[in-house]
Amino acid sequence: MSVVLEMKNITKEFPGVKALDQVNFVAKKGEIHALCGENGAGKSTLMKVLSGLYPSGTYDGTLEINGKVCEFKTIKDAEKAGISIIYQELALAKQMTVAENLILGNEPAKFGIINKNIMFKEAEKWLKEVGLKGVNPETITGTLGIGKQQLIEIAKALSKNANILILDEPTAALTEQEVRILLDILLEFKERGVTCIYISHKLNEVFEIADTITVLRDGQTVSTQPASELTEDKVISLMVGREIKERFPRIKAEPKETVLSVRDYSVFDQENASKKLVDSVSFDVRKGEILGISGLMGSGRTELVMSLFGGLQGGNSGEVLIDGKKVKIKNTKQAIQQGLSLVSEDRKKYGLILDMDIKSNISISSLPSISNRQVINKNEEISHGNKYIDSLRIKANSVETVTGTLSGGNQQKVVLGKCLMTKPKVLILDEPTRGIDVGAKFEIYNLMNQLIREGVAIIMISSELPEVMGMSHRIMVMSEGQKAAEFVAEEATQEKIMVAATGGVTV
Ligand SMILES: Nc1ncnc2c1ncn2[C@@H]1O[C@H](COP(=O)(O)OP(=O)(O)OP(=O)(O)O)[C@@H](O)[C@H]1O
Ligand SMILES: [Mg+2]
Repeated sequence: MSVVLEMKNITKEFPGVKALDQVNFVAKKGEIHALCGENGAGKSTLMKVLSGLYPSGTYDGTLEINGKVCEFKTIKDAEKAGISIIYQELALAKQMTVAENLILGNEPAKFGIINKNIMFKEAEKWLKEVGLKGVNPETITGTLGIGKQQLIEIAKALSKNANILILDEPTAALTEQEVRILLDILLEFKERGVTCIYISHKLNEVFEIADTITVLRDGQTVSTQPASELTEDKVISLMVGREIKERFPRIKAEPKETVLSVRDYSVFDQENASKKLVDSVSFDVRKGEILGISGLMGSGRTELVMSLFGGLQGGNSGEVLIDGKKVKIKNTKQAIQQGLSLVSEDRKKYGLILDMDIKSNISISSLPSISNRQVINKNEEISHGNKYIDSLRIKANSVETVTGTLSGGNQQKVVLGKCLMTKPKVLILDEPTRGIDVGAKFEIYNLMNQLIREGVAIIMISSELPEVMGMSHRIMVMSEGQKAAEFVAEEATQEKIMVAATGGVTV
């Protein structure tokens, strides 16, 4: 296979951070090349250099496409050279139609607003390419599920005739089924000679499709090898620079009193009050245990915990008891006062203020505890910030680093720090390790263990079955808003959970 892309000695610095340090990266025609590395290793930065987002002159080193040195000044330059990138965060205009998203900004002269018909025809063609035949090009993009939007991003990339397609964590928010469609499409592109650069923390996916794997660590290339010569464990040790023996360090639970009791709890749709998103669910969580909640996307898991946390507009019914006392939680402030804390799956929307620094994000839910007559004690804020930077191993220069400049996984750790600072009795984690590398996952699991030892109760929602099974002491499975089953960890199998999640079993 011929070399299509060669990045040589790429060095990229931000104030105080060397994100890339003499990185070399070579990709061949028609291969799927996975780029692995811990959070903050430099993966996204390297791809932003390649895609022209960081223009030539803002980094050192050279970039060659088909043997020709390229100096991209803009993203458009890179697109002209056949490079297309799908960013870690979706970039579609949600209020525009699918057709507009697909075609606009591509060649406006050719498809001026005047000729909608041609635009729709063209859009239909690309939708078909990515298996979205059923989607009407006139649909407003934001009304489609995340998975479909992701496929539209890919269609858009293709419509630009990409021969190098970069996907930065494309499956983080997708369902199993959507992941399958995506991986199949990538395999098809490969057959057509498209080179795919694939960034993912999900090593099983990487090994399913990748021909070659490059591992970055601390801004440097540590290895490029054929996938067939590697194993998941080897990649992990290359990524973290040490061996991780146990993926899920579950400890024996010593559950004590029930702290949270939920009885016949229903959640109603905000727009249609007769529709139940969660339907008469009952469960208990005790101090010192981890309750896992499993279920397919849309099964009501997130709605259940968001509503308990006072974070949903729609109504609810049923009873909630904390330490045996009935409580009515109307908003998230009351939830925090009652000892609940929630790490949301969507950190951008609910979790973080990206243009604020780390210490302010961490302390924002705990201000009364570090303030005197409304005045924040800055020293205390800094020392709390530093404490969580250390204990969560947040990769940042200082507590004053702007949160938005952190890598995805490190942002997630800031959300976690914010929740821990409120000293919750019940910590609710909704997809806590999404987008987080294996090393950091392990740290988060250890932290969960430490918390249950201290008597905190943890509720963990996760779409990754190995994670739910590996860490929880009990597992509740939801299906279509209802509780479909509950297992103690020893009895749970992947199969039993899947059967229950797809509506096969009732309890
Ligand atoms: N715009 C920026 N300003 C300052 N620092 C930045 C900026 N973008 C990235 N960094 C820093 O560069 C390093 C590499 O970040 P990058 O986003 O490339 O990591 P990553 O490998 O993609 O991680 P993740 O798996 O978490 O997405 C990190 O230390 C990050 O904080
Ligand atoms: Mg990244």
